[in-house]
Amino acid sequence: MYYKKIVLSLLFSVTTAFSFSVASADDAALVKEKCGSCHGDDGNSKDEKVPSIAGFSADAIEDILSQYKSGDRKGDKYTPEGGKETDMGEIASKISDDDIKKISAFLAAQTFKPVKQPIDKALAKKGAKLHKKKCEKCHSDNGSNASDDAAILAGQWEAYLQKEFDKIAAQERDIPRKMKKRFKKLSEEDRTALIKFYVSQQ
Ligand code: HEC
Ligand code: HEC
Repeated sequence: MYYKKIVLSLLFSVTTAFSFSVASADDAALVKEKCGSCHGDDGNSKDEKVPSIAGFSADAIEDILSQYKSGDRKGDKYTPEGGKETDMGEIASKISDDDIKKISAFLAAQTFKPVKQPIDKALAKKGAKLHKKKCEKCHSDNGSNASDDAAILAGQWEAYLQKEFDKIAAQERDIPRKMKKRFKKLSEEDRTALIKFYVSQQ
């Protein structure tokens, strides 16, 4: 009786462990196939034009993908090494909602690795002050907290951040009304300082 119980519980834990690892291996393969060539197989990108998306919350990734899918956010044209030109709108429109859920959960469980890139200490210091006053409320822990359900800014590629800051300043990206108000008042130098602050967190 006693032994039977142990054998049964052993069997149970072996099968659950097995089915769990199979499911996540599938999800890893799905991400590798659909996103890996640009964002890296674990969501940490090696190209300064492509953002790292590892460790973003699943809600944030699902939300951003649906913005690309609906056309609310326009993706830039991009050609991965050895691949053909496409953009996030086209990519998101070809992925089922079910796969989006799996992909988002897998990426959310990966670790965001801050990019090693040049730091400008003086500007970063100025940016830190601006961030605390104007941005920390929604991009908490200096822009590193995934549970805000927005993109992680701390340690992101500088070239990508610069490009998105430019789009936001030119009002080419739909962003929350309160962020728009604060962003409008920033000078170009303020924006550079903020970017340098995010980049300095490595
Ligand atoms: C062909 C290259 C390519 C592929 C494949 C690709 N992406 Fe992207 N992705 C980009 C580029 C380039 C950007 C930069 C921003 C833009 O164009 O709007 C981006 C932006 C994003 C963003 C916005 C990040 C932010 O900080 O706001 C998310 C999220 C994202 N991609 C998720 C994915 C997921 C999930 C997959 C796989 C289903 C995927 N991407 C596949 C190239 C790609
Ligand atoms: C009221 C809340 C709020 C405030 C304040 C705010 N943001 Fe945002 N921000 C957001 C949300 C939510 C998103 C995600 C929107 C989306 O995915 O389109 C975002 C997105 C961004 C992005 C795009 C990141 C990417 O990779 O796609 C940047 C850059 C950014 N914010 C910078 C700032 C800066 C700099 C400040 C301060 C001057 C600021 N935000 C203040 C809520 C806020």
